[in-house]
Amino acid sequence: MKSLSLQTSSIAASMTVSIDTLAKKLKAEGKDIVSLGAGEPDFKTPEIIRNAAKEAIEQGKTKYVAPTGLEEVRKAVAHKLQKENGLSYSANQIVLTSGAKQAVFNSLAALINPDDEIIIPAPYWVTYPELVKWFKGIPVFIETTPESAFKITPEQLKNAITEKTKAVILNNPCNPSGAVYSPKELKALSEVIVDNDLFCISDEIYEHFCYETEFASIASFAGMYERTILINGFSKSHCMTGWRIGYNALPETIAPLITKIQSQAIHHPSTPAQYGALAALKSDNSFVFNMRDTFKIRRDLLRSKISETLGKQLPNPEGAFYLFVPVQELYGKVTPNGKVISDSISFCSYLLESFGLAIIPGKAFGMDSCIRFSYAASEETLLEASKRFELGVKSLK
Ligand SMILES: Cc1ncc(COP(=O)(O)O)c(C=O)c1O
Repeated sequence: MKSLSLQTSSIAASMTVSIDTLAKKLKAEGKDIVSLGAGEPDFKTPEIIRNAAKEAIEQGKTKYVAPTGLEEVRKAVAHKLQKENGLSYSANQIVLTSGAKQAVFNSLAALINPDDEIIIPAPYWVTYPELVKWFKGIPVFIETTPESAFKITPEQLKNAITEKTKAVILNNPCNPSGAVYSPKELKALSEVIVDNDLFCISDEIYEHFCYETEFASIASFAGMYERTILINGFSKSHCMTGWRIGYNALPETIAPLITKIQSQAIHHPSTPAQYGALAALKSDNSFVFNMRDTFKIRRDLLRSKISETLGKQLPNPEGAFYLFVPVQELYGKVTPNGKVISDSISFCSYLLESFGLAIIPGKAFGMDSCIRFSYAASEETLLEASKRFELGVKSLK
């Protein structure tokens, strides 16, 4: 038999998706699993959204539409961007996608020529480097630390730029670190991006989960609108992970190319899901704000429990719904079964196998010294997870 695509075969599968799938499978088999692995709100999709999609299906709104999506939904996205972010887009500059992940795919497909360098601050969302490599680009990482609140500085950005640099991917708020760049920090980064004539892919999927620092889109700073490919969606803000609906907001120069990609790759995201998104866009977002307030309480609870177990005050993640915990001091310790904890993968495997606790190794996000907890789970689940984590840590010698 002939070989499969070498390019595609060289891409790693998403570790977060694998662990989440494994945890769900073990649970379905009746195993006692507590999972803080998934990047998925634990609430149901709001009723108005569910009803809007049901109604669309009942009314036969289930046919093919334009590759960019329904015009009324794109208009509503443009309205949201104007109202909440001060950004003026026409409906023609919006492309609805099958989740924000597809919007990331579109963005990289539109930008990368072979050997183009794409700058990615680490820790990063698992998908970015793999998709960059898929399109034959080169991911260039900028390391951050808990001491720098997992944020890059303008100097670091400047130093990472070469003549091959095409774009910077900025995920604000960040999965997995929870870092949120302030408007002042974004302005400083934007000046480097503009001075060096780069594109910026701005993944704003956690926009609504900012607990202390005010959210700003980097596209709103001088010279950025025409070079920013904005990514957002409904998975996290409206508990619509399984609906697969998100969007790109694009400069006029890039929109036609992404429309073309979309027309060949997926045609368009699910039509009923688009009607669900329309209901989300027309809502007053009180649901989102309530969820944000709940997540803040959960963050504080989990952070205090894990800090207590580790005997140190953990960095405060100001956004998203993840706690990214440095655990390097545990590496080298030995489990009751005699296995050495050598890295974040062996530590997370130990917690899953011995205590039924699913969390994600930092290695998946390019930072092996840490592990990621999602706090998009009930307080009861967080307390149980904290108990299992404590048992796991205390059992190490
Ligand atoms: C930073 C980031 N971008 C994009 C996505 C993908 O979102 P969606 O489920 O809408 O594809 C995720 C999901 O975990 C994410 O964390």
